[in-house]
Amino acid sequence: MKINFQPIAESEFKSKYESEDNLGFGKIPTDRMFILEYRNNAWQEPAIIKKWEPISLDPSAICLHYGQTIFEGQKAYRTEDGHLNLFRPDRNITRFNKSAKRMMMPEIDPEIYMTGLKELLKLEKDWAPKSVGSSLYIRPTMIGTEPGLGARPSNQYLFYIILSPSGPYFPEGFNCIKILVSEKYIRAAPGGVGYAKTGGNYGASFLMTSEAEKLGFSQVLWLDAIHKRFMEEVGTMNIFFVYNDVIHTAPLDPGTILAGVTRESVIQIAKDFGYTVKEEMLAIDDLIEGIYNGKVTEAFGTGTAASIAPVGSLFYQNKEHVINNFQNGEISTKLYERLIGIQYGLIEDPYGWIVRVP
Ligand code: COI
Repeated sequence: MKINFQPIAESEFKSKYESEDNLGFGKIPTDRMFILEYRNNAWQEPAIIKKWEPISLDPSAICLHYGQTIFEGQKAYRTEDGHLNLFRPDRNITRFNKSAKRMMMPEIDPEIYMTGLKELLKLEKDWAPKSVGSSLYIRPTMIGTEPGLGARPSNQYLFYIILSPSGPYFPEGFNCIKILVSEKYIRAAPGGVGYAKTGGNYGASFLMTSEAEKLGFSQVLWLDAIHKRFMEEVGTMNIFFVYNDVIHTAPLDPGTILAGVTRESVIQIAKDFGYTVKEEMLAIDDLIEGIYNGKVTEAFGTGTAASIAPVGSLFYQNKEHVINNFQNGEISTKLYERLIGIQYGLIEDPYGWIVRVP
């Protein structure tokens, strides 16, 4: 793939953040972005790496009206020897193309995606924070840009990658968060778009999430749409419960949850630690009962942005149900240390999950 590297004037480079202590999440833009256009049934060359700047869209652009938008969330982790580590980027690319297919958008050649990402990272490397827990967050995105008000898929698309130096997603860091179980709204139904990383899935969750935040909860736990009984997913994470000494998480096959890369990796690591992992439906009433009869010993969420987040309580049916005395669990701590260790290159990666960017 040809890339046109557009120069940036010295005066246009941004000043870097002063401290890594309060980066927040996704708030700081780096200097450059990668862009590639799709027109006439093909991705157009050359791709461009240029200054991060606003993009111009016709007010009738399809993405603005009919939600043809998809994205990925990835991170580049800075290692002690100054490289950047990508974590299983192939999994993100596969998921990106699954989302594209579901949203009637063109798939992208994995090599184009990966080359664009690596070239951008090489140039923006100095933006990557050094501390463990912080990283250079990566947001590959695709939007339907064709003008027109008819409800139909766009014939033109823009693929772009932007980066943002970020700290931990939750201000709590690796400490327990509180979650509100949604009894009123649902996130996804079988046959819908729950497994796609499309903007509307997030937009549709904001009402419930803001209600949860007003009550002091970080996130919402979504139950299945049909029975409103089986736990599925948390706002920006997959969810795990240690129930009867078995690690449970929701199955992928109804197509209602996101196939998390961290979820998949945590399942593998947990199995290698010798734990039993079940991808099965688990009912909220059994979970609540389990919190009181000792069957539920731990809960945690997993996600690229959030990494692993221990869950200290669930609010359900007007009551807060505290898990493991609101303490980080032993299993989630072990999984977190292993995962983070691999991602930051602190321990050996026996899986071949890491792709180094020089
Ligand atoms: C990620 O984990 O990268 C996500 O995409 C979550 C994001 C919506 C904050």
